[in-house]
This record gives sequence, structure tokens and C-alpha cells, in this order.
Amino acid sequence: MKEITARIYRFDPEKDTEAYFDRFTVRVNEGARILHVLHAIHDTLDPTLAFRYSCGSGQCGSCAVRVNGEPVLACMEESQNNITIEPLHLPVKKDLVVDLLPTLETIAFLKPSDTIQMPTKSDIDMIKPLRDCIECLCCVSVCPAMDVTQFLGPTAMRQEMRLALDPRDHGDRILDAVREGLFTCTSCQACWKACPKDIEIPSKAIEKLRALADRRGFTIPRHQEVAALIRDSGRSLARIEPTFMEIINADVIEPPGEVRATVGFFVGCMYNMRLPKTALDAIEVLKRNGIRVIIPKEQVCCGSPLIRTGQISFVDTLRKRNIDAFRFRNIDTVMTMCAGCGSTLKNDYKTPFTVMDISEVLTTYGIEPPARLPIKATYHDPCHLLRGQGIRDQPRELIRQVIDLVEMPSICCGSGGGVKSGLPDEAAALGKRRGDEIKKTGADMVISSCPFCEFHIAGHTDKQVKNITTVLLEGYKEKDRKKDLAIVS
Ligand code: SF4
Ligand code: SF4
Ligand code: FES
Repeated sequence: MKEITARIYRFDPEKDTEAYFDRFTVRVNEGARILHVLHAIHDTLDPTLAFRYSCGSGQCGSCAVRVNGEPVLACMEESQNNITIEPLHLPVKKDLVVDLLPTLETIAFLKPSDTIQMPTKSDIDMIKPLRDCIECLCCVSVCPAMDVTQFLGPTAMRQEMRLALDPRDHGDRILDAVREGLFTCTSCQACWKACPKDIEIPSKAIEKLRALADRRGFTIPRHQEVAALIRDSGRSLARIEPTFMEIINADVIEPPGEVRATVGFFVGCMYNMRLPKTALDAIEVLKRNGIRVIIPKEQVCCGSPLIRTGQISFVDTLRKRNIDAFRFRNIDTVMTMCAGCGSTLKNDYKTPFTVMDISEVLTTYGIEPPARLPIKATYHDPCHLLRGQGIRDQPRELIRQVIDLVEMPSICCGSGGGVKSGLPDEAAALGKRRGDEIKKTGADMVISSCPFCEFHIAGHTDKQVKNITTVLLEGYKEKDRKKDLAIVS
């Protein structure tokens, strides 16, 4: 047996004016799930505690709650001591019971065709990854786009794509999805990571629906302009100043001392065309730590702005050009410092080389300790780094070497999925939400590791926003300054 103490959200609309938390301690068997803890509280301490369940085996979806902020199925999640259990982010009926109906009613039904055409084996294979939904609404409770727009949400999109693949259905699923907010999705991937059935809604439903919508001419005009620019120039941004690759003007950057590793650098459009100084800072940090950097000039846009917005016809050309650019130089490891490029190379390419984010490179080989800076900073997890690449600890490990870090919730800043360029009001609403969370931390600085996030967040906070490598470089400059002072004195 083990003892579990749980803080539980309470709200009874018949007697409470606002929600509060109760703390309970119960004894449960080793391996007990959250649902067992709730039963123990209900049966031995408070029979008024309201929670929902049915199957007890991960099949019905009715027991979803948030544990320490993360949506889970109570019947499947193992209990830990000192946990906080809250309802999903949906209208609360009582305690942990939320109102599922308004969302479930928006999920489309099959509209039978007049002629019966049964799905083929290949139709079924494509439908399969989308049909395991148990309507728990974990995905809906984490979707940032739903918070600030009329978007019907991830599982509604999953169902539209499922029906679009089903020959028995005669609804116009693409038009419906567009009307239901298809283009408001920021590609944050929170829905996929929250889904107990591991349904890859962003890539298997939303990007596929967007590709079908593109064929029908529904793509947002601004996204079409970006696609035209990529086709014409190989880059998603127009050149307005000397680029990083022009400034650096070398294929190979040698570190001054011993070479500890060699990486190819996939620069990405934002660092190359808009934030070259940040990429130059990264080069200084890599040189200082003995990393040789090869920068093939033939590299082009990774294709992320096209894949995320469903404009996929030119993506194979970009993939080939990028893979060839690094393969012909016999590069084993390609380093990215843009979370979006890294996620695209890792998840949307089949590369003959390993792809690593710069935080992985620096933590794998280890860095010379920089001086500590007297600043309190918070870290923004880029969605395409945290969820797209599963990288959470490495950036923190680097930041903590130079600065005191204060955490904040990992929420989407609103710059991804083509939302910043195509739906600026939505991007601004999500940026404001990010800015409010930054303010609550009391930090002097926001650190991140994605140029899109850094650029967008800078417009929604009065704090300095810096890339990890810039902060590390400042730590090295401070270390050198102190060393010079010591020599002089
Ligand atoms: S990827 Fe993010 S914005 Fe898009 S549907 Fe999923 S949770 Fe919502
Ligand atoms: S898609 Fe996954 S998270 Fe969303 S309702 Fe279905 S099972 Fe739950
Ligand atoms: S009780 Fe059915 S999924 Fe948890």
C-alpha cells in the first residue's frame, strides 16, 4: 500500500461562487491509478466528490482530468504523491466533471452517399490512424487556437479528415473544415501529445486537410505569396539586408584550437535573412567549444512554411536540394538552430545524416562554463522543439550555466502554422497570452531557441528576448572581461 495526498479542484454551482481546492490523503495499492485515488476519496472521505468514469480501461474516454496541469485518462495514469487533480479546460459542471456536449455536438457525422461505395483496403489503412478517438477531449482542452478563435478544434478536424477519406460519405469535408477554422491551427502539436490514443492530428488530419484545401484554392493569399517566393528564390523571406551566409562568406568555420566535432549547419530562412546576428553569435559559441561548422551554400528553405500550410507540390524539390547540399560534403551530423527547421528535417525528411538541434550538440559535447550573469530569465519552449523534437532539458541545462531560470507554462506563442503571416489577429491574441505569462514570472529576460518565437514574443513583452546562444556568448564575454581585469590588476 502507499499513501497519496492529492489537491483536488472543487466547484459546485449550486452552492459555490468560486472554485477552490481540497486536500485529501488516502491509502491505495501500489500501482493504483488516479481513478483508484478518486474512488478511495469518494468512498472513505468525501462522498460528494464528483468525477466521471465508465470502462476503467482506457476505452470510453469519460474519465479525462488534468493531473499537475497535463490532461490524462484517470483510469490509465499511475498515481503519484502530492498531485493536483483538476478538470479539463472545459465548462465545469461539478468538481472534475466537465460539459462535453457542446464540443461533441460539433463533431461531424457521416452523410451517406446515394450510391454505396465501400472503402478499399487502402482507404481503411488511411482512415485507421484517425478512427481510434474515444472522445475524451484531452486534445480540445489544450488547443490554443480554440481559446482565441471560433475554431472547432483538433478532434473535429480529425473527424473531417476521416470522413474525407471515406467513400461512403458525401459531405464537402474540405469546405466544412475551412469554415470550421482549419487555418487557425498553429501546428503546436499539443493535441497530439495530449491524446491518449496517440492520434497525430496535426500531420495526419490538419496538414492533409490543408493540402486538399490548397487544391481547391482555399489557401490564404498571404501563404500563397510565401509559396511563390520559395519557388522563385528558394527562401521564404525576401532579401532586405546582407544575409548570414553572405556575411560569413565561408564554407567551413574552424575553431581556434582542438576540433572536438564537426557539424553541417542548416541555417534556416529566418536566421539567414532576418536574424543573422543571432546565427553569428551561435558560430562564436560553437568555435569556442571546438565545433567545426560546415555551411553548404546550396541549402534552401526546409519547406516547413509549405508543409504546415498544405502547399506541398514543391516540397520534394526542396528536400532533394537540402539533402544533396549536405550529403555531397559527407556530413554525418546536421545542426539546426531553428526549432521549425529542426522539426521538419527530423519528421518530414528521410535524411542520410543525423539531425541535431544546437542545444543537443552543445550538451552532447559539453561546453566551457561561461560566467554567470546577474539576471533572472524565463525560458519559452518552442512548440517545434518541445513537442516536435522532444527537447526540453537541453536548453535548460545550457541556460542554467549562465543565468537563474524561472519556469513558466509551456504554451504556444501563436507564431506557427502560418498563423502569424496569415491570421495576424489570432497570432496577436496568443502572443498577448504568452506576454501575460512572462509578466507573471517577474523575469528580466525571455530566452528561447526559435527565431519565429523570439521575433513574435518580442512584440508582446517589454522584457528583452534573446536566443540561448546569444546569452551563452554574453556569459563568455563577461568571463573574458573579468579575466582581462584580473590580468591588468
Ligand atoms: S496543433 Fe495545436 S493549434 Fe493545432 S489543433 Fe492541435 S492543439 Fe490546436
Ligand atoms: S483525438 Fe485523442 S485526445 Fe482528442 S478526443 Fe480523440 S482520443 Fe481524446
Ligand atoms: S474510465 Fe473509460 S477511459 Fe477511463
